[in-house]
Amino acid sequence: MVNLSTTIAGVTFPSCFMNAAGALCVTREELEALGKSGAGAIVTKSMTIEARRGNPEPRYHGFVGGSINSMGLPNLGYKAYAELIPQLKRFGKPVIASVAGLGEDDFPAIAELINAADPDLIEVNLSCPNIPGKPQIGYDPEASERLLKRVRPKITVPMGVKLPPYFDPAHHDVMGAVLRRCGVDFLNLINSVGNGLVVDPEREAVVIKPKGGFGGVGGRIIKPVALANVRAFYKFFEGTMPIIGTGGIVEGVDAFEHFLCGASAVQVGTVLVEEGLDVFGRLEAETSAVLSRKGYQSIQECRGRLKEL
Ligand code: SIN
Repeated sequence: MVNLSTTIAGVTFPSCFMNAAGALCVTREELEALGKSGAGAIVTKSMTIEARRGNPEPRYHGFVGGSINSMGLPNLGYKAYAELIPQLKRFGKPVIASVAGLGEDDFPAIAELINAADPDLIEVNLSCPNIPGKPQIGYDPEASERLLKRVRPKITVPMGVKLPPYFDPAHHDVMGAVLRRCGVDFLNLINSVGNGLVVDPEREAVVIKPKGGFGGVGGRIIKPVALANVRAFYKFFEGTMPIIGTGGIVEGVDAFEHFLCGASAVQVGTVLVEEGLDVFGRLEAETSAVLSRKGYQSIQECRGRLKEL
């Protein structure tokens, strides 16, 4: 087996595979199960000030090629995660706390208390597409900068940002400059492709209840969008920004593609929900086989080495 350990912002992960915030990581039981699993980290559900039940069900639908969800940030509330984090650290792998909020004032308050609980890294989620009436902050560069500049002084562990997908190089450049000015330590690219719509032609109906059926699309079909965002930001920061690639990883070769584009680690959402915790062992074996066949001894060796024609 090739060694699949990796480093993000100076923190070592025993494996490059971890859950995406949202996938099987809301409750204590789910987080402890991640701790016992083959995942290389424990990533919490994105948390808000108050505990939330989330959006009405059905709010997740898997289909051939991907998934659509509109969970609406169901979570235990930040105080509960602050209590859990020290216990989760006993599993001996990094804990990433995912911080969200329903308004700009929420983020610094959550970040301060969560930072005091000493997770290994904090990911600031600027990209949840599923709260009715709340646009994704990551699509507003001024609001993103304002928010990140308020949060940055509250965080002493590595601070990352989870971004939505961008579809134009001008947007990569604008956000890249914001992230540079805000002292961001790592990126997570990408959140689901927001506000997609899946139709069941037999029932002549949408497949999830919230927001008239609109939701975040994930899974295999979003891989090209995820890879493009990993590549664009890798190039913007000339390889110096640690990147977690998220989106479209179903098989080991998908993770390899993320590494070639510039990711140092990867997160899985849809495939984890569909397959359960055993997915980590499968993905590790497949990725190790791909790297070994290609003659690479580590992720670092192939990171960013995508050839252009
Ligand atoms: C959700 O809870 O609706 C998904 C979270 C996210 O996409 O950030």
